[in-house]
Amino acid sequence: ETPEFLAEFQKRIDREEKIEPNDPMPSGYRKTLVRQIGQHAHSEIVGMLPEGNWITRAPTLRRKIALLAKVQDEGGHGLYLYSAAETLGVSRKQMTEELLSGKAKYSSIFNYPTPTWADMGAIGWLVDGAAIMNQIPLCRCSYGPYARAMVRVCKEESFHQRQGYEIMISLAHGSPEQKEMAQDALNRWWWPSIMMFGPHDSDSTNSDQSMAWKIKRFSNDELRQKFIDATIPQAEYLGLTVPDPDLKWNPEKNDGKGGYDFGAIDWDEFWTVVKGGGKMNVDRITARQKAWDDGEWVRDAALAHAKKQTAKKAS
Ligand code: 3HC
Repeated sequence: ETPEFLAEFQKRIDREEKIEPNDPMPSGYRKTLVRQIGQHAHSEIVGMLPEGNWITRAPTLRRKIALLAKVQDEGGHGLYLYSAAETLGVSRKQMTEELLSGKAKYSSIFNYPTPTWADMGAIGWLVDGAAIMNQIPLCRCSYGPYARAMVRVCKEESFHQRQGYEIMISLAHGSPEQKEMAQDALNRWWWPSIMMFGPHDSDSTNSDQSMAWKIKRFSNDELRQKFIDATIPQAEYLGLTVPDPDLKWNPEKNDGKGGYDFGAIDWDEFWTVVKGGGKMNVDRITARQKAWDDGEWVRDAALAHAKKQTAKKAS
């Protein structure tokens, strides 16, 4: 690509124009979007597994229905995002093979176990809460198909967050055992949830370029801070303790609006999980491999049917 072409493209980005699939774009722009959208889609699909674990064991029919709806939504989000990635010329098959081989990542958060029902509350409240923080700015991403997919995803995500927080309210304001279960879930999900935003800006390899191309509108640390500042009052309302002894209100933070200082994140844990060493990584990929294998006959049938239809039209 010539410097003139790259400069012309950057002018389009700076003018806040939406880039569409058939527009000329730098190969690096295409590549980083395939990487991010593909990994986002993988996260949605793998993210169905921790919660799927509780659909048959939900405590009431109402809880079962809400959880079933949420998990189905996540599958739909994966579909949108794989379709958005396909507009950039990558196939579903290739993306799935990269997930199953470990070449493509998915969000670290989904490699943690869900041993109690309170995990369903903590995931909705914290994981979907963090996802909303990250996905709202993506509605203004410079790549059209990704931005448009995010609008629908964000609407559904806020229902996910609310149903999770409502579970936490019922437990935290319930019996002492229920409150203890909610506190235990907060203790296990707090730090992995703030790791979801990615490494500190200083260690973020993609951020500079993604910010220049307006794929990323806020840095990892900015979104992490916004999430923490919004979530602490919610934990206080629940009467639960966030497991960070260094958490402290700092009135100078956020240009004087104030915000929370928080403790050091365990980046060894983060990278161990990202690199496949988390508690549930093997289970998650095994489950996805089985689903891919079990679904082969469906894909073959759909392709055979499509071929027949095309032949019919042609004759
Ligand atoms: N888990 C796994 N890998 C992560 C990660 C995480 N939480 N955070 C960062 N990484 C990876 C990055 O992918 C990158 O590796 P790569 O170059 O091989 O892709 C590396 O760590 C360095 O991080 P960067 O900050 O340089 O990477 P990005 O600029 O891509 O920022 C991101 C990371 C903020 C996650 C960004 O990719 C993003 O906004 N992605 C879209 C949103 C997304 O994927 N969310 C995941 C959760 S989806 C979800 O929660 C569904 C909900 O319904 C429950």
